[in-house]
Amino acid sequence: MKLRSLAMVAAGLALAGCHTDMWVQPRVKNYQPSEFFADKSGARTPPAGTVPRGKARTDDPKYTGRTADGKLVAELPAMLTLDGLAVDTRTDLAKVLRVGKDRFTAQCSHCHGAAGDGQGMITKRGLVLRRPPASYHTDRLRKMPIGHFYDVMTNGFGTMYSAKDRLDPDERWAVAAYIRALQFSQAADPSLLPAEERAKLGGAN
Ligand code: HEC
Repeated sequence: MKLRSLAMVAAGLALAGCHTDMWVQPRVKNYQPSEFFADKSGARTPPAGTVPRGKARTDDPKYTGRTADGKLVAELPAMLTLDGLAVDTRTDLAKVLRVGKDRFTAQCSHCHGAAGDGQGMITKRGLVLRRPPASYHTDRLRKMPIGHFYDVMTNGFGTMYSAKDRLDPDERWAVAAYIRALQFSQAADPSLLPAEERAKLGGAN
């Protein structure tokens, strides 16, 4: 009996081993210098002409915001990947708007305001630019195809910087959809409301 348990312990040790395989090997930690490269920088630019897996940006309107004939895209792409999940924008707009609101609040509202009226906190508190952050509630922007908002986020607009390093293309579409919701919230036609909701307006319309 004793012998057997000893043998089992020995076998266990042998199987667990003390091998380190590839755990210990020279590698560069984030932001550490490297002895390997001539410029001593551990952070490398991807080699020219390579595309990270899953990141191919083709000339698909989803990535350019424009159709093949150069016109701004007029509809939200049918499928988006948001928070790692595939979302069908035609059946799950609520999810698209939730993500859009989240990213808008983080990336845009300090300038454009939570309601998109251009009255964000830093705008009110001394942000000085050649032109102030726009309100989305103008006739011109209400009539703009949704691709315009994608385009502004991707390429910047006038004094506004691009948001392309902060939001991936799918997130930009979600924010564009949320801007549409904000516009609707300030300029909806009351006749589109159900009678019960319309009654709450107290005869204002
Ligand atoms: C640092 C402040 C700032 C932030 C953050 C910001 N914007 Fe702007 N945005 C501006 C300014 C300033 C303008 C006006 C630019 C001009 O007219 O030159 C503008 C203009 C716009 C316009 C109007 C374009 C037009 O056709 O007139 C849209 C749409 C817009 N921004 C969307 C966004 C979205 C979406 C985000 C977030 C992803 C965002 N902005 C973040 C400052 C900002």
